[in-house]
Amino acid sequence: MSFDLVLFGGTGDLAWRKLMPALFQAFRHGTLPADGRIIGIARDDLGNEQYRELIQQRFAHVDLSKRPTPEEFDRFAQMLQFQRMDLSRAEDYGRLKDRLQQRKADVVVMYLATAPNLFTVTCQQLAAAGLNTPNTRIVLEKPLGHDLASNREINEAVRRSFAEQQVFRIDHYLGKPSVQNLFALRFGNALFEPLWRRENISNIQITIAEDLGVEKRGAFYDSTGALRDMVQNHALQLLCALAMEPPISADADAIRDEKLKVLRSLRPWTPEAINQFAIRGQYGAGTVAGEHVPGYRDEAGVSPESTTETFVALRAVIANWRWAGVPFYVRTGKRLAARDAHIVVNFRAAPHAIFRTPLGAANRLVINLQPRDGLQLHLLAQGQDNRRHAQSLTPVHLDLDFDSRFGSERVGAYERLLLDVIDGRLNLFVRSDEQEAAWRWVEPLLDAWRGTDGDLRGYAAGSWGPSAASAMIARDGFCWSEEC
Ligand code: BG6
Repeated sequence: MSFDLVLFGGTGDLAWRKLMPALFQAFRHGTLPADGRIIGIARDDLGNEQYRELIQQRFAHVDLSKRPTPEEFDRFAQMLQFQRMDLSRAEDYGRLKDRLQQRKADVVVMYLATAPNLFTVTCQQLAAAGLNTPNTRIVLEKPLGHDLASNREINEAVRRSFAEQQVFRIDHYLGKPSVQNLFALRFGNALFEPLWRRENISNIQITIAEDLGVEKRGAFYDSTGALRDMVQNHALQLLCALAMEPPISADADAIRDEKLKVLRSLRPWTPEAINQFAIRGQYGAGTVAGEHVPGYRDEAGVSPESTTETFVALRAVIANWRWAGVPFYVRTGKRLAARDAHIVVNFRAAPHAIFRTPLGAANRLVINLQPRDGLQLHLLAQGQDNRRHAQSLTPVHLDLDFDSRFGSERVGAYERLLLDVIDGRLNLFVRSDEQEAAWRWVEPLLDAWRGTDGDLRGYAAGSWGPSAASAMIARDGFCWSEEC
């Protein structure tokens, strides 16, 4: 099979940090079809050779094990081309068309790794130039808008030029092996399914903690915030994977239909619920991994008076038969104590206690997403005290480490997603109605938080976030996993 991958934003941050390394890994693993061209598009005045040199220099920042040797790069670079384009000029699309028609590839991928305000014009121009043929796939990177209205506008513009089956909306969390394992756990095994409901589960917690700050993206982040950056997409996709009904097949729409039902079952926010169950925070200076780091307002590109949240903790309520009364707690933040993404499924306590031990840390399933990928099942066992007829039990856990079982060099999220685009597999991409439902749910929070900082809580970099997040969950009688 032959392909042409046209990379709009070809000299941008995403292209060299994620996409080129992922394409190279696929090339190295022999999974990238050999008959392919990767055409970088940007306004810069570069020739093919200069573009190749630029990409090669950028590979110097990639982990050593993922960096090409000079010979490997030479072979990979044969796929790389560059075309200068001003995305608003019709003539430039004409030149792109000429280049694509030099050889008619089986699949043409238009990857929009540009600022989202260019999505609409790019789609219009591609269609006007006749570059929306049925063998064309279009890939859209987040953020797809900054609220429901702007998201709809983009989706409508895309819809005017491409059919939904041609549109690949990326949420890179869906490409992570650990997230695919979540689907495998739920729908490849029957063991947990009878337990996976309100009768047996007391609450579910989703944590996506980052120890990094905003790095070089201060200006972007300051107009975005954690709710848009992480909750509207990654966290809600995890929530869907946990809460959805088993799909009737592994087909993309069968999966996406079930995820959509979850998003539509989320109880809408009321002002009272926002007050009690939506916590936002912003990090101050602190210590991360033994190093002093500045507070958010002192980061480059961030306004010294910024009210943007770098931390969010929420209680989501899913109003359906399976989950009525089971709170889903979601939290995410920058500059937290560790890079740690995990899910905790807390099962209900035994209905009648014959042992003295409170259930405490046991009776839960922990799904580790990153940096490690694995499962831990926490149980209680009769431990060392058995000689004394003690009625107290000891917490123990079964530990399944997928990294050591399958090797930590598994296919990365972007590599997997790029290959899926080329192969035309939509399972791990987000449909427009899912995206709109997610925006609809977060929008009351965006409105409530806009232009006011009354409830913005500070937290020290290197902590687990504002104490209000602990107080919120404690009011329901629960605690975050690191607290109990
Ligand atoms: C991105 C966000 O979508 O996900 C970033 O824009 C965040 O702010 C990143 O750091 C986290 O991804 P990962 O794969 O490192 O968990």
